[in-house]
Amino acid sequence: MTVKKLMVIGAGQMGSGIAQVCAQAGYEVLLNDLKDELVGRGLGVIEKNLFRQVQKERITSQEKDEVISRISRSTDLQDANDVDLVIEAAVESMDIKRKIFAQLDEITPEHTILATNTSSLPITEIAAATKRPEKVIGMHFMNPVPVMKLVEIIRGLATADEVYQTIEDMTNTLAKVPVEVNDFPGFVSNRILMPMINEAIYTLYEGVATKEAIDEVMKLGMNHPMGPLTLADFIGLDTCLYIMETLHDGFGDDKYRPCPLLRKYVKAGWLGKKSGRGFYTYE
Ligand code: CAA
Repeated sequence: MTVKKLMVIGAGQMGSGIAQVCAQAGYEVLLNDLKDELVGRGLGVIEKNLFRQVQKERITSQEKDEVISRISRSTDLQDANDVDLVIEAAVESMDIKRKIFAQLDEITPEHTILATNTSSLPITEIAAATKRPEKVIGMHFMNPVPVMKLVEIIRGLATADEVYQTIEDMTNTLAKVPVEVNDFPGFVSNRILMPMINEAIYTLYEGVATKEAIDEVMKLGMNHPMGPLTLADFIGLDTCLYIMETLHDGFGDDKYRPCPLLRKYVKAGWLGKKSGRGFYTYE
C-alpha cells in the first residue's frame, strides 16, 4: 500500500512537527484539532520553521509556499474519510485515544492505517478500540520533530507485517530513521530516558547538587546536548510525570516511582518551558 494523503490529529508541538515533515516529503496533509484556532497556531509554527529554512537558503520561498499549500485545515474527524493514514498526536489519555480510534475506525476506508504518536501508552490497548487491530501501529516521533532523526515504530500484538512495512517505508521517505520495537510500557526511548530524568530530579531533591551542576555533569560528562533537567522542562513536566506513572503502573515496579518533587512541580502548574517555569524560568 502506498500512502498519498494523511491526517495528523493534534496541532500541538508534536502534531505540527509531524505535519511539517510529511508535507515537506510531498504528502497531502490534513492538520486536525478541536478548534480552528489551534490548527492556526500549529500552522503558524510550521510557517516560522519553514521561513527559517528559507533564510538559511535550504529551501526557496516558492518551495515553502508549496509545502504550506499541501497542508489543509480540519476540525472534523469526518475529513479522514479518504485518507490512507492517520497519525494521532492528541493528548496522552487512553480514554481520549480509544474514543478517537473507535471513531476513525468508522470514518476511514478499510485500507487506512491508524497510527499513534503516543510516547508510552500501550498500542495493543488503543488497537482494541477498533475492529482493525492489524492496521494499528505506533509511530513515535521525537521532539523537535523537524530536527530529530528517530521514529520508534511500535508493533501492537496484532499489527500485520505489511502494515509495519508500509510505515517503515513511509518513515524512510520523511528522511527519518525507523527503529522497530515491541509494545511494552515506555517502548525503548522512554523506558530508558524517563528513569534517567527522574533520577536527575531525585538528585536535585536530595540536595546532591544544584540544578545547574546536574545539567552540566550530563552535558559535559556524557555529551548530552541538553542536561536532564533542561530536557525535562523542554518535554514538559506533566508529560514526564505521566510517562513515569505509565512505567510504574505498567511494570508494577517501584524502581519507576516518580520523584515527589516532580509531582509537586506539576501540581504547582510548573510544567516547564510551555508554562514559563519548571526547573528553570523562561521569558
Ligand atoms: N523546531 C524546529 N527546528 C528546531 C527547533 C524546533 N523546536 N529547535 C531547534 N531547531 C533547529 C534549529 O533551527 C537549528 O537548525 P540548523 O542546525 O539547521 O540551523 C538546529 O535545530 C539546532 O538548533 P540550535 O542551534 O538553536 O540549538 P541546539 O544546537 O542547542 O539544538 C536541540 C537544539 C536540537 C533541541 C538540541 O538541544 C537537542 O538535540 N536536544 C535534545 C532533544 C531531545 O533529547 N529530544 C528528545 C526528547 S524525548 C521525546 O521527544 C520523546 C518523548 O516521548 C518525551
